[in-house]
Amino acid sequence: MALIKLSQSQNLPYIALQPIASLKSPKLFMASNFPSSGQLKVENSKKSFMPHGKVLVQVTHSIPQQKIEIFKSTDGWVENNILTLLKPVENSWQPQAFLPDAASDGFEEQVKELRKRAMEIPDDYFVYLVGDMITEEALPTYQTLLNTLDGVRDETGASLTSWAIWTRAWTAEENRHGELLNKYLYLSGRVDMREVEKTIQYLIGSGMYPGIEKNPYLTFIYTSFQERATFISHRNTARLAMEHGDSKLAQICGTVLSDEKRHEISYSKIVEKLFEIDPDGTVVAFAEMMRKKITMPAHLMYDDHDHNLFEHFSAVAQRLGVYTANDYADILEFLVDGWKVKELTGLSAEGRKAQEYVCLLAPRIRRVEERAQARSK
Ligand SMILES: [Fe+2]
Ligand SMILES: [Fe+2]
Repeated sequence: MALIKLSQSQNLPYIALQPIASLKSPKLFMASNFPSSGQLKVENSKKSFMPHGKVLVQVTHSIPQQKIEIFKSTDGWVENNILTLLKPVENSWQPQAFLPDAASDGFEEQVKELRKRAMEIPDDYFVYLVGDMITEEALPTYQTLLNTLDGVRDETGASLTSWAIWTRAWTAEENRHGELLNKYLYLSGRVDMREVEKTIQYLIGSGMYPGIEKNPYLTFIYTSFQERATFISHRNTARLAMEHGDSKLAQICGTVLSDEKRHEISYSKIVEKLFEIDPDGTVVAFAEMMRKKITMPAHLMYDDHDHNLFEHFSAVAQRLGVYTANDYADILEFLVDGWKVKELTGLSAEGRKAQEYVCLLAPRIRRVEERAQARSK
């Protein structure tokens, strides 16, 4: 993971790898020398964005028609309860507010100060922040996924349904996150921006496979979990920035996390509504999603050198304590409590089995984690 410029003599073997000099997709250029270049070119173009063998078996199936109707019939509810959680653009923060003002005379001075503060922060932190930023920057993938969903997808690109408006406005709010973190990291001078930008390009090209199967039940459980996970992660990066004496960076992370919190509330509220309308179907979907495990959005991250880039990024997160296995269990427990899953009654046999599974899962994850920790000690 040669994404960051090492500033200190820390021993970080996997990020200290030198970038492979000017690989520049040689196959692509060479392919045009052969008569069958068209075919070769197509195959190689495809290969560079293949999700590296990790998700070769993929399931796509739709939920039954009567369940799709649930989403169509809740459009008015979304308008009154979910769209109201969006912030009007005029009251929204924009990345410029937290960055040196390029139009002002003091710009150079402000950049110098930003870089001075960044020099005090360890490399591990920057590795993690880069991973965070890359995850935010892969936003086109998330909007694409939301627009695969039966019953809620934006059918035209400018659909007038509340579900579609939510997806577009959520995307527009999220777009500021990658923008802000990217500009900050660029100015910090701590990051090899070419490597980072390449990784973003690879990641968007590869996509993501969270196993949501065009099913809004699975998806909104996933997004509730995921928004809370990003909220926790940004909360920890804010806290660490503060500990390293950089209150401006802490403010950047804090600003992003306040959006994530609002998004978490929105998606959780949608699932709460699903529990009200269809408790059985929702608890079964909850268990199904948790059995699959909540895959992190950037799980197909790749940088042309490291086939386990995401695992390395996750290891840094675990080491820094910004996002750990215990956080995963905490989020699950938080959702189980928030959706009052334990209190559900009148479920089918399948529903009761699912209920038991999700209610017992968090303690189980913690026990496994404790054993793993004890072993590693
Ligand atoms: Fe975000
Ligand atoms: Fe988010």
